[in-house]
Formats: sequence, C-alpha cells, structure tokens
Amino acid sequence: MRKPDRLSAPCSPASKETGCSREAGSSRRHFISQLAALSAGLGVAAPISRGASQTNPTENAPDQSPEENSLIDITLRVNGTTRKLRVDPRVTLLDALRERLDLVGTKKGCDQGACGACTVLVDGTRVIACLTLAVMAQGKEITTIEGLAKGDELHPVQAAFVTCDGFQCGYCTPGQIMSAVGCIREGHTKSDTEIREFMSGNICRCGAYPNIVDAIKLASAEGKGAI
Ligand code: FES
Ligand code: FES
Repeated sequence: MRKPDRLSAPCSPASKETGCSREAGSSRRHFISQLAALSAGLGVAAPISRGASQTNPTENAPDQSPEENSLIDITLRVNGTTRKLRVDPRVTLLDALRERLDLVGTKKGCDQGACGACTVLVDGTRVIACLTLAVMAQGKEITTIEGLAKGDELHPVQAAFVTCDGFQCGYCTPGQIMSAVGCIREGHTKSDTEIREFMSGNICRCGAYPNIVDAIKLASAEGKGAI
C-alpha cells in the first residue's frame, strides 16, 4: 500500500467534521503572516506562536537589544569634554561611562546602589552612577576618577590615599576617592566619626577603613581635597 506522504495526507476525522482541507492550514499560515506584517507596521510585538516568530524579525524578545528607533541621542559633559551618544533611554550613567565611553575607572560592584563603587560627581555632588539614568545627567558636569589628576599630577585626595595606604585590592578605591572629594567639599570632615558616617555608603571589602579615614583627614587638613 502506498504510504501517505505529508502533502497528500488526509485530514483527520475531526477536521473532516469541520470541513477541513489543506487550504484551511494554508489560510492559518496566511492569517499569521498577515498578523505579523500588521504588527510590524504598528511597531508592536504580535502574540504569535514561537514557530511563526522565528520568521518575524520585528518581534522583540526581552534579551534582544532595543530596536534602532527606540534609541535616543544624548550629550554628556564628562571630565570637561562633550560626548555625544545614541543610547537606550534606560541605560544607566555607569554603563554609559564604562561601556560606551571606555571610562572604566568607575567600578561596577553591586549594580544596586549598595556599595558605592560607582560613585562619580555630577555638578560636584556625589552620585551613585548605577542608579542614575544617563539621560538625567545631560547638561551637567560629570567628573569621574579619570578626570581628577592633572596630567601626571595626582589630585590631593589621590595623593593622600597613596600616602596613607588607603587601599588594598583597590577595587573600591575610585568610588572611595570620588566620595571623599565630595565629602570634603561638603565639609563633613570635622571628626573621624563624621567622616565614617558620611563615607558609610562606600563599602571596602578589604577593610581599609582606618587608612581611608586617615587619607581624608590628611587631604582635608591640607585644604585641597575638594575640586
Ligand atoms: Fe553602584 Fe554598587 S555599583 S552602588
Ligand atoms: Fe579592596 Fe576596598 S581596597 S575593596
């Protein structure tokens, strides 16, 4: 007996009851194609099956990069230089600095606002870059650790950290230094207790806290710590 091949396979009994034919299957595919095309035109992701989505390049899976038309142009002023970027409006200042501008001195620790490793200055104020949208920093002066030194001359707070051994592994150090500059600028350096309190947002897993406090006191005493 001749085996039925896919193209000549008969309809199932159930489909016979409903008057099914190969044209019905073709109609469904046609309908799905039209739905996908319509969705693409409207810029929405159609709630269609996985198989159909594989042929639809406009569908936006969560782990895909955003489509070109969702990006926005922004201008950031970083370390005295104007930088233009095209970014997803949800990108954080930390990711814009590290991944788009190659300013990797600013560290990503927790990425949740809990460790202070990503501290930068925005208009002279300490800011947690992982919780700040890059678009919000437009029109402001952003200072990162790369912007502190003047050529080969270290910023006084950087020099004080070296003098006082204010670091061990160094991972938290850029954030500690930027936060220290802000702390000195704010005038919160009247005692060890005050320094510890106003630097408490910056975590050091190496436990270099006593030396960090000494460094801040040294830079503050010299009256040159704030930028
Ligand atoms: Fe931003 Fe930890 S990386 S606070
Ligand atoms: Fe290692 Fe602070 S020096 S985390």
